[in-house]
Amino acid sequence: MSTDVPAPDAATPDAATPDAAASNAATPEVAAAEVAAAEVAAPEVGSMRESPIWDRYTIGDIQAKASLGRYRITGFSLHRAIPRLDDLVFLPAAMTRLPLEGYRERCETKTVLGARHGCAKPLELSVPVYITSMSFGALSWNAKAALGRAASAIGTCTCTGEGGMLTEEREESSLLVYQMTPSRYMLDLEHLRQADAIEVALGQGAKPGTGGLLPGAKVADRVAEMRTLPKNIDQRSAVRHPDFLGADDMEVKLEELRIATDNQVPIFVKMPATRVREDVKIAAKIGADVIVVDGMEGATGASPELLLDHTGVPTIAAVAAAREALEEIGLYGEVNLVVSGGIRSGTDAAKALALGADAVAIGTAGLIALNCNAPVYLDDYTALGTAPGFCHHCHTGRCPVGIATQEPELVERLAVEAAAERVENFINAMVMEMTLLAKACGKGDVHGLEPEDLRALTIEAAAMARVPLAGTDWVPGRDGRW
Ligand SMILES: Cc1cc2nc3c(=O)[nH]c(=O)nc-3n(C[C@H](O)[C@H](O)[C@H](O)COP(=O)(O)O)c2cc1C
Ligand code: SF4
Repeated sequence: MSTDVPAPDAATPDAATPDAAASNAATPEVAAAEVAAAEVAAPEVGSMRESPIWDRYTIGDIQAKASLGRYRITGFSLHRAIPRLDDLVFLPAAMTRLPLEGYRERCETKTVLGARHGCAKPLELSVPVYITSMSFGALSWNAKAALGRAASAIGTCTCTGEGGMLTEEREESSLLVYQMTPSRYMLDLEHLRQADAIEVALGQGAKPGTGGLLPGAKVADRVAEMRTLPKNIDQRSAVRHPDFLGADDMEVKLEELRIATDNQVPIFVKMPATRVREDVKIAAKIGADVIVVDGMEGATGASPELLLDHTGVPTIAAVAAAREALEEIGLYGEVNLVVSGGIRSGTDAAKALALGADAVAIGTAGLIALNCNAPVYLDDYTALGTAPGFCHHCHTGRCPVGIATQEPELVERLAVEAAAERVENFINAMVMEMTLLAKACGKGDVHGLEPEDLRALTIEAAAMARVPLAGTDWVPGRDGRW
């Protein structure tokens, strides 16, 4: 949020100052009255300066906590500026490389994930973009169905998320990744075998080191039944998997999953971006086919607000560190890398691919394409104390557009077919953006994008993404050059 307070206007006419008012006055009495009025009208210079430490947000935050007696919970993503993919630019071809013709030459987008252990059906996606894990419970059934339908139309996959496999989602999704979280909600062998990939989740970028959180307002009948939970009670799920505590046990678990699914489908491991280098190496060594690294921009249906703003590392740093980690152990290209967290466009996705990802997963961008924050049902945004463009109120269960809610009269506001079409259009637009950039950089395949195609606009971005600062060959820290 902006912390700017308008400064007293330097161009205020003289009549607004006490001296000027006095000099223009007809009588001493009138002059005194005008001086008094002018003192009220013209604040002392600096009296409306906002403190950068005790700004309006901080004051409101303290007052809210003083009233609630607990930390604050919110949906959506972080609310602070961090180094991000916007801080990188592409270097299209000129003399050293040849660009491809925009309309006449092809640029491949096909993406295969999870072939590492020779499973019968690695995920074959037509594009390197898919819909990330978002639970039924956090989302309405028709949001899940619409995302599945859009993904199928594109030829990509979607993921169940924590709340189990929803019948409608399975029906709509030609490729569905089944998530296994520590809570094990609705985890069963039958669903494992209906899945096109298994994702073992160790956490997410929005709230690393903590478990899922579903406010009671969203634990409606069907959600409660699928999770075997009491209705309308806040649900906080486990943070540690009950059947593995470290790398050795987890290696056994991954092998068990492979056996349970008859090595038909790949196994993903999803992790929040924290100690990326070490965590990625461990996950790769114990047998993950695909590693999903979720940067600190990653969104959520509900999280303690402090975790969104103050934990994890930005996606731009996570993807570079993950790539280097895999390179160091000789598994880059063998273990696939998926990156998520704040991917908003084909430009972001192309940058993530250039930094080393095989694919990106999108959550919030897909929800926005569904209709999140759309300027409709304005009274309902107002009732939440917000407005389109500012809403982050998924945790309330009162989503004005029927996406992050379980209330039937709100859910029915999201028409599956039209919503799916918007998401399909959006992903198609993302892919056009990616191929446009790739061709300009002389690549006939989006997977040919590489760190050399990028330059950083800030020293921070250069250090985090390990690409040269624009106009130089300097990567901070590389070859001992600081
Ligand atoms: C409404 C919502 C529900 C989510 N539910 C889950 C979940 O069940 N399991 C999980 O691993 N991540 C969950 N996530 C996190 C996403 O899978 C993903 O990591 C994150 O949204 C990516 O960032 P982006 O939204 O900026 O694309 C959820 C995110 C949102 C917005
Ligand atoms: S519009 Fe709905 S999905 Fe979007 S932020 Fe608000 S509550 Fe969440």
